[in-house]
Amino acid sequence: MYTKSKELIKKIRSYESKTKPLPQFFSKAEIKKMLVWSEACFRNQGDTSFRLQDLKVKDNDRTGSPSGSLKSEICHFLSQKMDPVINSKGDLKLEYSVAFHGNKKAYGIHTDSGYDPEELIYKQGIIPLVNEPEDKNTHTIILNQKCYHSSSFPNISKDKKAQKDVFDLDFKTEICPTTYAKYWKNTKIRKEQMKGFSVDYPFEWKVGDTVVWDRSRIHCSSDFEATGIKFKLGLMWISKIL
Ligand SMILES: [Fe+2]
Repeated sequence: MYTKSKELIKKIRSYESKTKPLPQFFSKAEIKKMLVWSEACFRNQGDTSFRLQDLKVKDNDRTGSPSGSLKSEICHFLSQKMDPVINSKGDLKLEYSVAFHGNKKAYGIHTDSGYDPEELIYKQGIIPLVNEPEDKNTHTIILNQKCYHSSSFPNISKDKKAQKDVFDLDFKTEICPTTYAKYWKNTKIRKEQMKGFSVDYPFEWKVGDTVVWDRSRIHCSSDFEATGIKFKLGLMWISKIL
């Protein structure tokens, strides 16, 4: 496991800012265009991976990582939409990466901070495309805690090694029970997993809305069972400064 140098972390932190929700940011036509792109991406087997790595299992989670001209088209679109928000002065040279995530299960607690120790990580965002059933809520919960390399945190309270990499951990303050019940299952395992973390911004998946946050911020999905959600599809993007 590598970590970034103190100097690089300091530089990354100098670009950090408050999590930014952007309500009704995408038009219906833009959402439709992204859905068409997701279908094109998933049709291409080489660009599709499965979380359970078993094609026979029906409830596999799918990730589509577009390549070639599709990737260029999506990244161009995203840079046109997002640059005015995250690069308003136009003084940064940014590179975007994208992936479609179709999920039937909640994502655990993790960061997408990059595996390259030299990488100047910047912002990321999620664009909800499908939320089923439509009348049920699902959230991407952005947490206050930060980590400067990509990692998952299945049980931070017992993982001394992972604790060292996480900024602003606090095992004394528990998540308020009302907040907890809104997003997560009331089980011993889940409660143990959430220990030490606190909520920065709970982004509710509404098609058309989006949210931008620092790539160092640890985040996770709300539990599908807690809210009755069955499936969600989103376009996730990450950016770095070149
Ligand atoms: Fe993520």
